[in-house]
Amino acid sequence: MLQIEGLSSGYGRIRVLKDIDITLRKGEIVCLLGANGAGKSTLLRTISGILKADSGRVIFKEMDITNKRPEYIVRIGIGHVPEGRQIFGELTVRQNLILGRYCKKVEKKEMERLMESCFSLFPVLKERLNQRAGTLSGGEQQMLAIARALMSEPEILLFDEPSLGLAPIIVDKIMRNIRELKDRGISILIVEQNINAVLEIADREYVIETGRIVIEGSTEMLNNNKTIKESYLGM
Ligand SMILES: Nc1ncnc2c1ncn2[C@@H]1O[C@H](COP(=O)(O)OP(=O)(O)OP(=O)(O)O)[C@@H](O)[C@H]1O
Ligand SMILES: [Mg+2]
Repeated sequence: MLQIEGLSSGYGRIRVLKDIDITLRKGEIVCLLGANGAGKSTLLRTISGILKADSGRVIFKEMDITNKRPEYIVRIGIGHVPEGRQIFGELTVRQNLILGRYCKKVEKKEMERLMESCFSLFPVLKERLNQRAGTLSGGEQQMLAIARALMSEPEILLFDEPSLGLAPIIVDKIMRNIRELKDRGISILIVEQNINAVLEIADREYVIETGRIVIEGSTEMLNNNKTIKESYLGM
């Protein structure tokens, strides 16, 4: 589904990612783990076209999409739920959802159908439709950020620390929601620091350290490897 080959990128003269190789197969949940500043968000931003790659390639369904524009990448089926949610606080829930569809025009009726599909996952958003998004709780804002990304009908969703700042019970709910998205056929690449929560849902993991992948393996392998858990994951 998504193949990242030898990808390097960064900010100005600061090189952050070095020669990253990652594969996401159809229907998988793959998790990217790593300490603060390791380059996790930088990787998601490079896939989304927000940041330019210096070298390497991003391949989506056999198409080379390296350094394409962000709106093109959303349009062809890669959604991004960014770090810190980045919802539009002054706008209503409905307006945020409509903006999630800016890249692919649809009729009003189709827009309503897409929203209903989001509400089947997050019923609370329907109750809050005309409320200003900035007044939602943290958990509701995260749900809105996910729903906004779903409005573009992605085949792949990139999640950047969806559990950040949420109470454990809400984290469990969000993880269950992500699992449900997999069941709906969306392939998922998720960045998380809440390792215990994400290991419950992920099929495979990559560990990134100062811009390089240092470990990759299945959840089962990671769970059974005491050295990796202690040395790399601080568990
Ligand atoms: N806009 C920017 N300009 C310059 N350097 C940046 C910028 N954004 C991030 N960096 C640097 O790039 C490196 C990787 O940052 P990144 O945000 O990708 O880390 P991360 O793994 O997502 O960390 P966290 O877990 O804290 O979110 C860091 O050293 C950071 O200081
Ligand atoms: Mg980050």
